[in-house]
Amino acid sequence: MIRAVVRGFGASLPKRVMTNRELEDLVETSDEWIVQRTGIHQRYIAGEGETTASLGAAAAKAALDNAGLTASDIDLIICATSTPDNTFPATAVNIQNRLGIHHGFAFDVQAVCSGFVYAMATADLYIRGGMAKRVLVIGAETFSRILDWTDRTTCVLFGDGAGALVLEAAEGEGTTDDRGVLTSQLRSDGTHKEKLYVDGGPSTTGTVGHLRMEGREVFKHAVGMITDVIEAAFDATGTSADDIDWLVPHQANRRIIDGSAKKLGIPSEKVVITVDVHGNTSAASIPLALAVAAGDGRIKKGDLVMLEAMGGGFTWGAVLLRW
Ligand code: UT7
Repeated sequence: MIRAVVRGFGASLPKRVMTNRELEDLVETSDEWIVQRTGIHQRYIAGEGETTASLGAAAAKAALDNAGLTASDIDLIICATSTPDNTFPATAVNIQNRLGIHHGFAFDVQAVCSGFVYAMATADLYIRGGMAKRVLVIGAETFSRILDWTDRTTCVLFGDGAGALVLEAAEGEGTTDDRGVLTSQLRSDGTHKEKLYVDGGPSTTGTVGHLRMEGREVFKHAVGMITDVIEAAFDATGTSADDIDWLVPHQANRRIIDGSAKKLGIPSEKVVITVDVHGNTSAASIPLALAVAAGDGRIKKGDLVMLEAMGGGFTWGAVLLRW
């Protein structure tokens, strides 16, 4: 059977680092509160000329270099983002143009913090369905542009950045020993809209709006939803927590990550953490974390890797893959 196998990875971050101390000058907060409640020490903030598409294109180029490919080898680009450069056209098409290619097709996926997991599931289906052979799957965000910088309950949490994978069609045996995506489990429930949303949009206010979140309410649901989809991924593949080499979670809050890993029985040495340096970069957080852990040699070819995310909507999901 055909499998969607990771061939390359890449990342791109804005130049500017913003520390917790800098936030103390903007809102009534403290480095101590932010570190204790979230595990975040710093985040990257996009400057003038840095946009979701520019960061996404840089991450895509890094992933192509890592794969030993050029843009002409790609036939599909999927970009997960909730902070597009424009309402339309899609950021993925903007990135396609920046990569200098005019063949194939490109589109965005919008599932907020679960966007990269949704995009991976989508790319896997396009590859297994035979509609694409090599796919750039990108998570790119500039959440700094939709933050209310006077609201201490949200502005300390988020950051900007982009990460990308190149997925390639390869023959597999149909077992969990195959490299590539082994299962994707996706969920959504719109009844939770008010707990995490942006209070603007083209069809309502005609403005971009700002992010609004009832953090404690989101937190209450997060661990249960995350463990639910991970257990569904284990059930679908006959694997268990003992088989996992790496858990690469969406990086929203260190306490949510630790709580989920503990509930699943995954030891902390197997969990990739980047929330300390990146903050919450929404759909970019998983590919950024993958680029860090594969780049420093922790994630190796053949490792069993679980990706998971939960966010606005609510949306949540998990992807199990063999690297
Ligand atoms: O990525 C998408 C999914 N999003 C998430 O997963 C986020 C989920 N939620 C969280 O990570 C946490 O709920 C937060 C980090 C947002 C907040 O942590 P918490 O432990 O749930 O704190 P809280 O909201 O219960 O607030 C505790 C106190 C409050 O004061 P009172 O009411 O106890 O007097 C807040 O007003 O902390 C106060 N507070 C702050 N204090 C200093 C809230 N924000 C800040 C701040 N600095 N930045």
